[in-house]
Amino acid sequence: MTILSGKARVAGIIGWPVSHSRSPRLHGFWLDRHAIDGTYIPLAIPPDAFPDTVRGLMNAGFAGANVTIPHKRAAFAICDHVEETARRAGAVNTLVFHEGRITGSNTDGGGFLANLRAYGVNPAAGPALVLGAGGAARAIAAALQEAGAPVTIANRTRAHAEQLAGDLPGLRIIDWQARSDALPDHALLVHTTSLGMSGHPALELDLSRAHASLAVADIVYAPLETPLLAAAHARGLRAVEGLGMLLHQAVPGFRAWFGVEPVVDDALRHFVAADLLPA
Ligand SMILES: NC(=O)c1ccc[n+]([C@@H]2O[C@H](COP(=O)([O-])OP(=O)(O)OC[C@H]3O[C@@H](n4cnc5c(N)ncnc54)[C@H](OP(=O)(O)O)[C@@H]3O)[C@@H](O)[C@H]2O)c1
Repeated sequence: MTILSGKARVAGIIGWPVSHSRSPRLHGFWLDRHAIDGTYIPLAIPPDAFPDTVRGLMNAGFAGANVTIPHKRAAFAICDHVEETARRAGAVNTLVFHEGRITGSNTDGGGFLANLRAYGVNPAAGPALVLGAGGAARAIAAALQEAGAPVTIANRTRAHAEQLAGDLPGLRIIDWQARSDALPDHALLVHTTSLGMSGHPALELDLSRAHASLAVADIVYAPLETPLLAAAHARGLRAVEGLGMLLHQAVPGFRAWFGVEPVVDDALRHFVAADLLPA
């Protein structure tokens, strides 16, 4: 049983819907581990109520919140200060309230890089091929560029990749159909589309073209081992699971709201992964 005091720190995740989110479980693990007088709750808020709700949470004494689909762009607009991570990603996923001001950041790119490094993969080791041009791809491409990697994008809808390239100078675009042929030119493959998620078709990709040194990262984490990661394992390639990105992206928010630097370790991974197994 969790007993809060009158001074408890409160944060949460705002989404619509939000019932699928694993963030309450993840932050709840850390709150329990550190015996913190605080809580982290799911907040299902429709888009038209988002701005008023955020100000209401701040006025009610919340320490901040995570923001997920469909609010990540709207969150950008309500911030008093937006950090460079969010500016480059064009979206906010973490809000911190302090003395009546809202600061927004985007921790997806940093979480992705931290997860890569946890697997022993250096993001700057060579050119990266990113499949997809949605919100996650944007944050990851920006973070990879920042880390010093040349980035190529292949997306089903080329116009979306071109929009991204307009915002991130230096990005190279190739056709979606050319993705397998492009593998030998890259040291890292990052899959950011919804293909391979439970209930979705698998990504079609011919990994036989890749060098043996290619690292394959999939940001889809349900299932934990996607068909792409299974194919990478089968070829003996380094495979980086998406769950770690989710865990690592949560660190800066927890630190800001609850004042403790949390650690991503096997115990946390197993606890969150247990919720991803088929019932
Ligand atoms: N591990 C983590 O922490 C983490 C964080 C964020 C997101 N994710 C996961 O990443 C995925 C994408 O999230 P997002 O927020 O970036 O979504 P999004 O903004 O909606 O972007 C979706 C992307 O998937 C592509 N796509 C969708 N269906 C496709 C299909 N049938 N064939 C080819 N491409 C297809 C879209 O291409 P078009 O432009 O052609 O539509 C677009 O590039 C989701 O599975 C999400 O759960 C994981």
